[in-house]
Amino acid sequence: MTDRSNGYEAIADRFVAARSAIGSDVVRDWAATLPAGAAIVDIGCGSGWPVATTLTAAGHRVAGIDPSPTLLAAFRRALPHADAACEAVEDSRFFDRRFDAAVAIGLLFLLPEPAQAALIARVGQVLKPGGRFLFGAPRIACTWRDTLTGRTSRSLGETAYRGLLADAGLHLSANYRDNGGNDYGMAVAGQGGDAYDRTVS
Ligand SMILES: C[S@@+](CC[C@H](N)C(=O)[O-])C[C@H]1O[C@@H](n2cnc3c(N)ncnc32)[C@H](O)[C@@H]1O
Repeated sequence: MTDRSNGYEAIADRFVAARSAIGSDVVRDWAATLPAGAAIVDIGCGSGWPVATTLTAAGHRVAGIDPSPTLLAAFRRALPHADAACEAVEDSRFFDRRFDAAVAIGLLFLLPEPAQAALIARVGQVLKPGGRFLFGAPRIACTWRDTLTGRTSRSLGETAYRGLLADAGLHLSANYRDNGGNDYGMAVAGQGGDAYDRTVS
């Protein structure tokens, strides 16, 4: 069977063992900016810990998408009441609904450049007006080797992501860096101008 998980199904158990809580503070802070009980789609949700569990603990409703059967099974165990789809983002119908927010942590840079652009465009379509998108990716354009899968990861860099977000009707409104040195961008649907720009590190 074709692997749609960019190597993550093969190393799922090792990923779960290695995943730390780093970044949970960024997710928690972002969760506090969302409307109460927000509907959030977690793209590349993995096991659900710590991203979806943090969002759920903040009172939001999370739906997860991930093509790794092992990781999605762990997500279903962690969040038995959440909607979950075992599929690649490239194939996803996003549960045929729209969301208040979307999150994609540790995913964007696993994908080839056209698939990264397509993901961002799709997020623009599934977010409600004013919806928010939190994504993880280095602010500088770079490539590196994923230590778990051995595959090449590729960040397009902030300038390119800003452009792709704008094409999708989203405005990059903030940058975050967690205490592990990982970068995140936060974008808002339908926001123009730079009035909301700030950097938090
Ligand atoms: C580095 S892990 C991050 C998991 C989770 N977001 C977290 O922060 O713990 C990358 C995840 O993306 C998933 N993934 C890989 N390719 C994908 C694709 N094409 N569509 C959706 N998810 C994908 C993997 O199965 C894996 O769960």
